[in-house]
Amino acid sequence: MNLDGAHVVVTGASRGIGAATARACALAGARVTLLARSQDVDTRVAEIVAAGGRAQALRVDLTDPGAVATAAGRILADGPVNVLVNNAGAGRFLSVAETPPQEAVAMMASPYFAAYHATYAFLPGMLARKRGCIVNVTSPASRIVWPGATAYTAARWAMRGFTKALQADLAGTGVRAMLVTPGKVASAYFASNPGSEGRLPRIARLIPTLSPEDVAEAIVVGLRRDRADVVLPWSLRLLFAVHALAPWPVEALMVRTGWRRPAVDE
Ligand SMILES: NC(=O)c1ccc[n+]([C@@H]2O[C@H](COP(=O)([O-])OP(=O)(O)OC[C@H]3O[C@@H](n4cnc5c(N)ncnc54)[C@H](OP(=O)(O)O)[C@@H]3O)[C@@H](O)[C@H]2O)c1
Repeated sequence: MNLDGAHVVVTGASRGIGAATARACALAGARVTLLARSQDVDTRVAEIVAAGGRAQALRVDLTDPGAVATAAGRILADGPVNVLVNNAGAGRFLSVAETPPQEAVAMMASPYFAAYHATYAFLPGMLARKRGCIVNVTSPASRIVWPGATAYTAARWAMRGFTKALQADLAGTGVRAMLVTPGKVASAYFASNPGSEGRLPRIARLIPTLSPEDVAEAIVVGLRRDRADVVLPWSLRLLFAVHALAPWPVEALMVRTGWRRPAVDE
């Protein structure tokens, strides 16, 4: 896909991977619309415009289907959307016993239902024009699980399942879906979701930490090359390949080097 002149909508663009992706797409010639709840999206727009890009922002809670429909109506009134990047997401690494049901529902709502609502709003226009791309960002937990992050992991599997199902549905339509799976990223994620960073399995330290800009660049390259599956860095790709060949030892390592359930007094 040629990003020059395209209209790219990025969710969760107030910081981190989403902000870097919006900026990278704008610098590649796209007009970008940034979506998030906080006012920081306005700052991100000002930075992109100062760098010579074209950007606008809308503040919306993507877990609210009505609010997403209203925002999408305003965006589409301005012209078609060529790329939707579903990146908004949150959720702490917690076991089931530590996760009250309403928190588990919120963790499924963002990222998964946020991505669903946005896709529901923008996909029909892409199908009518027979082109476009839905980009879904997920976590390595969607392929190789570790202990102590149960509802988080389920929500990232939902993102992967949604993308694979979209790829099957969209075959032959001219519209594509791309799954992006970065390793650990140095963003505000772990500050916003306290207690999570310490639960990454120790084996994960072998995989270098990425910057949001690394992920943004991989998304731009993936879009240009019409990729279906983007995994970075290369050492994570290698781990996925080893896991595909020999799942049991990799899963055992995740458990052995991961979070330990506190002992319960008998
Ligand atoms: N950081 C990592 O190590 C890592 C690794 C792999 C995958 N990921 C995934 O990548 C995605 C982005 O992560 P990040 O590291 O960039 O995190 P981040 O810095 O915490 O950014 C999360 C973004 O999502 C937005 N957001 C969350 N809930 C929202 C909602 N209900 N409505 C609208 N916007 C919402 C936030 O904006 P507001 O708060 O302003 O609404 C923010 O812009 C997440 O889905 C995460 O699971 C992260």
